[in-house]
This record gives sequence, structure tokens and C-alpha cells, in this order.
Amino acid sequence: MSYFTPDRRAQAEELLSLYPKARSALVPLCHLAQEQDGWLRPEAMEEIAGLVGVTPAEVRGTATFYDMLHTEPVGTYLIAICTNIACLLDGAQELLEHAEELLGVRAGGTTEDGRFSLEEAECLADCDHAPCVQVNHRFVRAQTPEAFDQLVDDLVAGRVQETIPPHGTLCRVRRDGGLRVDRQQIAAERAAARAAKASRAAAADEAKPSSGGSS
Ligand code: FES
Repeated sequence: MSYFTPDRRAQAEELLSLYPKARSALVPLCHLAQEQDGWLRPEAMEEIAGLVGVTPAEVRGTATFYDMLHTEPVGTYLIAICTNIACLLDGAQELLEHAEELLGVRAGGTTEDGRFSLEEAECLADCDHAPCVQVNHRFVRAQTPEAFDQLVDDLVAGRVQETIPPHGTLCRVRRDGGLRVDRQQIAAERAAARAAKASRAAAADEAKPSSGGSS
């Protein structure tokens, strides 16, 4: 039985068909699994490993390399506050302490109700809006304690669901155009590419001088 829901399993198959090598779909599949549960469960990593032909340890090794992938449970809303230099100079440490007090967790922790995780982040590339805050990897510009309180209120009341979906959701609207998967066409193109490669290799072999020369 698949770890993925039927819809997501179909999306997983679609993702796999987009890449010449199944292994290339590893990170997109991790995001797909994370969208399902908000984090990467061990059983998700096992299934992904089977789909792309690597070991579960390799999936875990890849997932733990990327900040956006989580192999431990996180809250519905993952709040990241940058404390790198530009933000630090503009009050990031004070804002982080305020957030810890308001949420009742230290950086790195998750509230008991599972609603919020708080983390200290390195530069998030939005230094001109220091101190920089993200929720579920979306910039929120809550730069003062008052703005931060308002943000938490809005999240609790569900007032910003449209712009900040639960953790793991990469996009709120599935693409309805652009790149489309035609599996038959992709299979035919790959077969043609393999045939052309074999033919080039054969031609190169024929062109090689024979190794059994006379003295
Ligand atoms: S230093 Fe905080 S976003 Fe760059």
C-alpha cells in the first residue's frame, strides 16, 4: 500500500516521468510528501527511495541537506526569524526573544498544540526589510513586536490562510498550463535518444583503427 494518497501518488508518477533519470525526482517527491503531512515521515522517505532507486538513508541524507525539508514534525506554521548581521543590527534578537515569549517556546521548538514552530534563520535575502520574518517560507514583513503580535493573531484566526497555507504547501494553485506531461511522447523521445546514442557509439567503434596491426 502506498504512503501517498491516490491523488499524490498520481502526481508522484507524473513527476517521475518528467526526468530522464528517476533519481532527479528525489527532491520534488520529498516536497510532495511534505505537502501531504507537513513533514517527511520515515515511511514517505522509504517509498520515495523505492520510486527513485536509492536507499532510504540517501533520501534522508538529501532531505537533511535542505532547510525547506523537515525530517521531524513541525508546526502548521513555521516561523523563521533571521538573526544574521543586517537583521541583528536592526533588532532581530529582540524580536526573536519577543516571539519566544509570546509563543512560549524557544527557537527550535514547537508549541504544544502543534500550531507554531519557531526557528532562528540565517540570511533570508530580504535584508532591506530587516529584521526579516518568514512563515512557511513566505515573507511576512512583521518587523516590530506589534506587527509580530498581529501576525500571530491573524494566523490563529485563520485570516491569512490565502497567503500562508499550512507548512509543506509549495503552491496554492496547481499549474493549469505550461509544461504538460505526455508520457507516450516522452517515452518515444527517450527511445529515439537511446537509439541515436547507440548508433553514434557503433559508428565510433567502426571508425576506430583495428588493434591487431602487423609488424
Ligand atoms: S541578514 Fe536577515 S535577511 Fe539578510
